[in-house]
Amino acid sequence: MNRRKFFRSGAGISAGLFVAAGARPKLSAGRSIRTGATTRPVIITSHSNSTGQDAMRKAWEILAADGSALDAVEKGANVIEVDPEDTSVGYGGLPNEQGVVQLDASIMDGRTYNAGSVASIEGIKTPASIARLVMERTDHVMLVGPAALDFAKSFGYKEEDLMTEKARGIWLRWREQHSDKDDWGPAEHLVGREEATRVMDGPMDFHYGTTNVLAVDSNGDIAGITTTSGLSWKVPGRIGDSPIIGAGLYVDNKVGAAGATGRGEDVIKSCASYFIVMQMRAGRTPQEACEDAIEMIIDKYADVNPDFVPPEKFVALNKDGEYGCAWMGIRGTPRMSVHTPEGVAVFEGSSMYDPVG
Ligand code: GLY
Repeated sequence: MNRRKFFRSGAGISAGLFVAAGARPKLSAGRSIRTGATTRPVIITSHSNSTGQDAMRKAWEILAADGSALDAVEKGANVIEVDPEDTSVGYGGLPNEQGVVQLDASIMDGRTYNAGSVASIEGIKTPASIARLVMERTDHVMLVGPAALDFAKSFGYKEEDLMTEKARGIWLRWREQHSDKDDWGPAEHLVGREEATRVMDGPMDFHYGTTNVLAVDSNGDIAGITTTSGLSWKVPGRIGDSPIIGAGLYVDNKVGAAGATGRGEDVIKSCASYFIVMQMRAGRTPQEACEDAIEMIIDKYADVNPDFVPPEKFVALNKDGEYGCAWMGIRGTPRMSVHTPEGVAVFEGSSMYDPVG
């Protein structure tokens, strides 16, 4: 039986309107209501923690000086990428199953309708900047693996060890405790069978993790970045949605921008960021468009596994400076950091899943 129910809570408020899956609910109050007001510049990131807010402040220095959205999103993304404490993006990101950190990133410039990305790149702390080089210094969109690293080095980037002791510790714990059917871990004759074959009883720090940085500048131009260390413990060489234009990121200078975090496989198959921008193009607010994408993905799985709960979070921004975010809500309320002319704030989007409904 499908126990899933959706609701659309007006973003920023806690009460929601419960509706059956598949129905098109009425929206409650909040940012989902179009105000007609234009606020620019605006920059958002799916990271709602202090690093996300620091990233917004850094990027704002560019936007406040009438700089470009493109420069701002790169500067903001770099702050998150080089944070060694963040195990989901750039330096310090969790590795693949073999303990190798492989990063994905993309960038899109609405002003020029240009895009660039790198996938499964190793040894570079700021893959978003390499994606920008692909966009601006080649006639291509995507470079992959060792060739992407060589490309970065040709511009003077140094190859560095991206594995922090924190990430290594989490990976080693995973390697020793994710299965009772291998020989990783302590010797059985020293600790006993139970301890030698113990599997983790709680979730690891991150399985998915990514950041999106989207901005509209004072000129009305829009740009975006998505950057990630991808799914932790992934099969080596696995590429997620983040470097795929239309999946993890999309920008249309006439409309807005959208980015995705969560299970990249869902986002790739549903072309979710492109879908969100097209929903905004058709008149939906960023909040509505993010919610539409959650419903769209649920609908894709409806006949396959109606109990599947996709863990995606979507963020979006339009040309007027309106923004929104939504997810299925299995971990509470989705949040993101926002910087407007009024300052930096944490925005609460909408959760669309009622696990007990
Ligand atoms: N959304 C990040 C990934 O799946 O790699």
